[in-house]
Amino acid sequence: MPPTDFDRLIDRRDTASQKWEKYRDREILPMWVADTDFMAPQAVLRALHERVDHGVFGYTNTPAALNAQVIERMQRLYGWQIEADDLTWLPGLVCGLHLACRAATEPGQAVMSAQPIYPPFLSAPRLSERELVTLPMTRHGQRTLIDFEALEAAITPTTRLLLFCNPHNPGGTLYRREELEQLAAQIEKHDLLVCSDEIHCDLILEPGLTHTPLASLSPEISKRCITLMAPSKTYNIAGLGCSFAIIQDPQLRRRFQRVRKGIVPDVNLLGYTAAQAAYADGDEWNRAQLDYLRGNRDYLVEEINSIPGLRLDPIEATYLAWIDVSGAKLENPAHFFEDAGVGLSPGRDFGDDRFMRLNFGCPRALLEEAVSRIRRALLNHLPA
Ligand SMILES: Cc1ncc(COP(=O)(O)O)c(C=O)c1O
Repeated sequence: MPPTDFDRLIDRRDTASQKWEKYRDREILPMWVADTDFMAPQAVLRALHERVDHGVFGYTNTPAALNAQVIERMQRLYGWQIEADDLTWLPGLVCGLHLACRAATEPGQAVMSAQPIYPPFLSAPRLSERELVTLPMTRHGQRTLIDFEALEAAITPTTRLLLFCNPHNPGGTLYRREELEQLAAQIEKHDLLVCSDEIHCDLILEPGLTHTPLASLSPEISKRCITLMAPSKTYNIAGLGCSFAIIQDPQLRRRFQRVRKGIVPDVNLLGYTAAQAAYADGDEWNRAQLDYLRGNRDYLVEEINSIPGLRLDPIEATYLAWIDVSGAKLENPAHFFEDAGVGLSPGRDFGDDRFMRLNFGCPRALLEEAVSRIRRALLNHLPA
């Protein structure tokens, strides 16, 4: 099996790629939505080819072997014992956030979320007709975490659910075990539920750090958790829509499955096929990807911090850099960087307009071109 060449520039134009269509026919490098420009592992491609060659694409069940893979994976990676009944397969994680709001709370109850955060965390409560309470993220040294004191202060008798993101998007903070224990203690003390989105859990860049699922801490916290995971970010198969929720409390799981019923479609069979192959044979590929992303990260952090007006903290996980552009005093940062030829995600969408998010899940040459465009534009913009 040939290894993936992460340096290879794959032409994604005219493939209905969300990322590349946005700037179709414009000289702008798309570094926004969170998929990578890497080819999926060969094992995934081979499994998809075989499934397509079978030629029949009728309704499908979750493969029992895939449930077994996830159970084994949780035990092997985290020492977390789960059962097949704990799993609910979903075509995406965003619908999981929405289902969590509707299943874990009643109308009129409040849902908390840190801010800045991946935008659907902020829209899911409102679209579910629940009150949204936002909590600041606080910088401790060069790590930015949910503000535990603000969380404590924000809880009222109507607060019921926390939407939690670990590793955090944007910025890639990976919560340490002690921090998760502190969070779990607060959740239990105030009788809350948590939806923990851990979609980026296999993308830990910082050597020596490992992911800990919040729910794996203890059976007490697990009873209060809806954990969301997927192979989609790790193996660049987000377009195949295959994700899962782990809910160990039977009552909470029943409520989650009831609000889903008849509205959220089943996962499609190619999504299952890709997930099975990725989890079975993708570990080595991901180790190579993480090495590559670490190189991109180290390059980017150094370069960005050498450009006047920009600041980038170390990135523990994810391929999403959260760049503080406030020092550059830009009137409209998104337009400024587009004019410079680089398409970034506006921090405003995540709830903090001092920042822009840059997706560095791409060949190094593309990243280098983006950085050089950014540097040139800022040097022209800022007085010498
Ligand atoms: C934290 C987080 N959750 C969910 C998603 C999207 O999930 P899906 O495409 O499975 O709905 C993303 C994508 O960027 C994400 O970063």
